[in-house]
Amino acid sequence: MSEVVRGVVAKAKGAPVSIENIVIPDPGPGEVKVKITACGVCHTDLHYREGAINDEFPYLLGHEAAGFVDTVGEGVTDVQPGDYVILNWRAVCGDCRACRRGRPWYCFNTHNAASKMTLEDGTELSPALGIGAFAEKTLVAAGQCTKVDRRAPAPVAGLLGCGVMAGLGAAITTGNITRGDTVAVIGCGGVGDAAIAGARLAGASTIIAVDIDDRKLELAREFGATHTVNSRDRDAVEGIQEFTGGFGADVVIDAVGRPETYEAAFYGRDLAGTVVLVGVPDPTMRLDLPLIDVFGRGGSLKSSWYGDCLPSRDFPMLIDLYLQGRLPLDRFVSEEISLDEVEEAFAKMHRGEVLRSVVVL
Ligand SMILES: NC(=O)c1ccc[n+]([C@@H]2O[C@H](COP(=O)([O-])OP(=O)(O)OC[C@H]3O[C@@H](n4cnc5c(N)ncnc54)[C@H](O)[C@@H]3O)[C@@H](O)[C@H]2O)c1
Ligand SMILES: [Zn+2]
Ligand SMILES: [Zn+2]
Repeated sequence: MSEVVRGVVAKAKGAPVSIENIVIPDPGPGEVKVKITACGVCHTDLHYREGAINDEFPYLLGHEAAGFVDTVGEGVTDVQPGDYVILNWRAVCGDCRACRRGRPWYCFNTHNAASKMTLEDGTELSPALGIGAFAEKTLVAAGQCTKVDRRAPAPVAGLLGCGVMAGLGAAITTGNITRGDTVAVIGCGGVGDAAIAGARLAGASTIIAVDIDDRKLELAREFGATHTVNSRDRDAVEGIQEFTGGFGADVVIDAVGRPETYEAAFYGRDLAGTVVLVGVPDPTMRLDLPLIDVFGRGGSLKSSWYGDCLPSRDFPMLIDLYLQGRLPLDRFVSEEISLDEVEEAFAKMHRGEVLRSVVVL
């Protein structure tokens, strides 16, 4: 029997989101219906609404979520009803060329539910990142559910489902930051501040936060930034160099994803340093760099999809660090809101007033 729940839908490019009735079919083989308890508002949801990801409207938005397994389909053995889970968008297949080489964090064939959620008129919905969790319940593949310690409150735990995991992983895993490294993070939203927290956890000695908003720079200090640069007032590269003996940082993380922030990351790093791009560019953006500088400055230019995370490995570990007081996940939650307030949360994000608004159901 299908079930009807309320959910937040983006119907057309740039149009405000609306609350709609969502029809959820019973979970098919390998699928799980999850009762959502909390779901953070990520900039990627706004990218979807703006048509910057692709054009498969209508979208069921929301993807940074935690909740409880409601019902499971045939053949599901890893989770059972009542389990407390964080949803992920990397249910690895185990069989693609990346998985077969032992690099499942690059899995090229991740699983989502094959059964479709629809509007009441039968229109198929595209769930954001294969999740769609601004809804009372949603339908995912079993591998998208990662069990974690239920002492971690859902508004906090759900954040690991996307942006905070992406930022932490960009620093720890993709950037491979280690003790004594100098680090700069450009863009101090939820993703950038998570990268700062990750850099601190990994032992970076200098952590430079770069943003165009002083309020964000203040928050960045709470996550571990040792220096701040407001790149509206001064050149980001010069600022990074000033705090790294004139050399630039070992690792620079671009958590915005624009040509000018990438260029600042590229020139703000030391020779043989690493750039990590974790912000998601708009498909229209282009980059123009002298190739001789790409060669001459050496090092590596990396992109970080979802922080190169492996949910089964990283979510429980990071929740444990949070419960031990070593990872301030609760600081990311600026406010708790209801489903009806997602559009307003986008506006607050746009105005730079929040790190994460979290829908609590
Ligand atoms: N790679 C991944 O897997 C992944 C996962 C989640 C989110 N993201 C992406 O990461 C990016 C950041 O997400 P978020 O939720 O933190 O967004 P956010 O809007 O909360 O934060 C962006 C921050 O960048 C700052 N900023 C904007 N333009 C800037 C500029 N030119 N120079 C310096 N700072 C600037 C803003 O003031 C803000 O503090 C988005 O592009 C999002 O889509 C990527
Ligand atoms: Zn795979
Ligand atoms: Zn996200």
